Amino acid sequence: MLARSLAVQGLISGLKTVILDTDPQGTVVSWSRRRQAAAPAVMGLGSRGIGETLSDFAKRGADLVFIDTPPHAQPVINLAASVADAALLVTGPYPEDLEQVSVVVGIVQNLNKPAGIVLNKTPSRAHALALARAALTTFNLPLCPTAITQLVAHPYASAEGMSAQEWETDSRAAVELAELWGWVQKCLLVG
Ligand SMILES: Nc1ncnc2c1ncn2[C@@H]1O[C@H](COP(=O)(O)OP(=O)(O)OP(=O)(O)O)[C@@H](O)[C@H]1O
Ligand SMILES: [Mg+2]
Repeated sequence: MLARSLAVQGLISGLKTVILDTDPQGTVVSWSRRRQAAAPAVMGLGSRGIGETLSDFAKRGADLVFIDTPPHAQPVINLAASVADAALLVTGPYPEDLEQVSVVVGIVQNLNKPAGIVLNKTPSRAHALALARAALTTFNLPLCPTAITQLVAHPYASAEGMSAQEWETDSRAAVELAELWGWVQKCLLVG
């Protein structure tokens, strides 16, 4: 959801963004089939390697490529992390979510590239969020100050091949995505 939403937010701010969906589930590719708008371009990995696909995007004038990866520690996460300029780790707020993210933290910390974490699907209850924030400080990676709240705007938008800020402009979901995009630009897309 965040790969799609950030790619749309990039488009809104005037960048030619594309998404490379490396997840065999292909949920971003399916989303793009439901989508009316042509941009952002979405491509599955297919039989070509990540490097070759990225240079193809560069030749076609892409400003920014989002590589969506499978949720668990699979070899493609190592590959994606090695070719990417930066990594954004997305995690839910609960102990099981945080356990999963620790493996990916290990992968990106070894690469010495800009990396950060964002909490997604957070409940409105402040206590759960505070516990998750505290647990994430142990990873020593910057944490986006805006957590992305669990809101129906996200799946509703997705059903229409849209992102929440297109589906409901000025909604809480839209505001949070804009804040996340600002933080990503400042902390991860440096240089
Ligand atoms: N903040 C949110 N609020 C409500 N629903 C959300 C939120 N984030 C994601 N979802 C919904 O949860 C489902 C899975 O989300 P998402 O695709 O982001 O997760 P994922 O971890 O990448 O899962 P997958 O294994 O399917 O790739 C989707 O239906 C999506 O619309
Ligand atoms: Mg996914």
